[in-house]
This record gives sequence, C-alpha cells and structure tokens, in this order.
Amino acid sequence: MPPPPEHLALLDSSTVRAPKLGVRPGRRVAELLRREVALADEDFDALYPEAVREVSSRYWTPVAVAMRAAQLLVTDRSTRVLDVGSGAGKFCLVGALATGASFTGVEHRAGLVEVAQAAAASLGARRARFVHGRFHTVPWETFDAFYFFNPFAENVFPASEHLDASVELSSDRCLADLTFAEELLARAKDGARIATYHGFGGQMPGSYELLRTEPLGSDYLELWVKRPRA
Ligand SMILES: C[S@@+](CC[C@H](N)C(=O)[O-])C[C@H]1O[C@@H](n2cnc3c(N)ncnc32)[C@H](O)[C@@H]1O
Repeated sequence: MPPPPEHLALLDSSTVRAPKLGVRPGRRVAELLRREVALADEDFDALYPEAVREVSSRYWTPVAVAMRAAQLLVTDRSTRVLDVGSGAGKFCLVGALATGASFTGVEHRAGLVEVAQAAAASLGARRARFVHGRFHTVPWETFDAFYFFNPFAENVFPASEHLDASVELSSDRCLADLTFAEELLARAKDGARIATYHGFGGQMPGSYELLRTEPLGSDYLELWVKRPRA
C-alpha cells in the first residue's frame, strides 16, 4: 500500500454510513463502467460518504487497476470472483459492471459492508454482493478467482494509521490471517486465478505459477494461476 496521504482521515464507526445518493449519479457511473471506461477515481468515489472518499487513495483499488485486475481474473461471465477484504466494495463494483461476471466481497468491518451495499444499489450492480465476516469463513471452494489488495498490512501499521478501531488488529492477527490465506490458496480449485495488487503479504503456494506482472497504479498487478495436479 502507498504511504498515507497527509490528510488521511481515519474512519470511525460513527462516520461510516451508507451514502444518501440520488439514483442518477450512480447510473451514469455504471453506464461508463459497463462500456469499460476507466473513469476518474474522484468520479467513482463521489458515490461514497466523505470519510470513505478521503481514505480512497490509500485503501481502495483505483478504477483503472480494478478494471484490469477484473479482466485478468474473469475468463467468462460464469467466473465467480472473491475480493478478500473488500472494504468499500470498489474492486467488486468496478469488476462486476465491467465484466458482467459475479463478484463477492468479504469484509470484517460491518460499516464498510453497508457502504458497499449502498453503492451497489446506487449503481444497479446486481452481480456484486458483499458479506460481513472474516475472509476464511466464506466457502472458498465456490470461487474460481481471488483478489488481494494487501489486506493484512494494516495489522502492522501504527494505530494512528488504522482505518478505525472497530476490529482487532495486531501482528498475531496478521500472522494468523496470512496462514489462513496460504492454506486456502493451497486448497483452491485447479486453475484458480489470483490477482494481487501490492502483493498479499504471504508466500504464494508452490502450486501457483506467476503468469503476468504489470506495473499499474502505485505498484504492480500480478496474475497467478494454480497449475492442475499431474
Ligand atoms: C487495502 S483494503 C482493500 C479494499 C478493497 N479490496 C479494494 O481494493 O478496494 C483491505 C481491506 O481488507 C479488510 N480486511 C483485512 N483483514 C480482513 C479479514 N481478515 N477479513 C475480512 N476483511 C479483512 C480491511 O478492513 C480493508 O477494508
């Protein structure tokens, strides 16, 4: 993740609320995304409440990166993609609208799940859904592809840089989550596709092959594919 902007506004659970949006701004954004136009981040982020917009450049995937990652992950409209730590839903919303495939985001902060659901409603993004919980509790075997924007790094940031204090964050938690992620990746179905932006913080299991590395946004987008067992 890039360094925090000077103005980093921390979320607190009292400020993360579903945005009150008219239908039309969301429709205009959705139309552009369906035509695979990588609109400016500030235009997409206008769908969000101010506190969520203010942390976007550090915590949420830029539109152009989300669009490219979705293109790399989706092989056809039947592809089911899981965003591991979906935050305000930006990756899933852009991906679902641009590709027509089905995107699920799992997020441990309930307030952000509400924000993502409200943005999905405003955009009419029916192929994006968001669930509240820790990522390892969702049935990974039902997904074909996974996206990680370095979700566990926040555990080792100083407390002043945390998004909020609504979840437990610690280096022990970081280690536990990385262990879960490595185990789940090792058990994913053959041919599973993984995209990482700023990496995922752990060691990709040996059964995966790195197919592409592309400089994009403030880092690299990587595409990994699980080789079929011999
Ligand atoms: C860097 S943000 C990326 C958000 C989103 N994927 C995007 O790209 O716009 C990482 C998100 O992962 C969430 N997260 C971290 N650990 C998690 C866990 N164990 N289970 C579910 N969500 C988690 C954080 O709350 C945060 O919203």
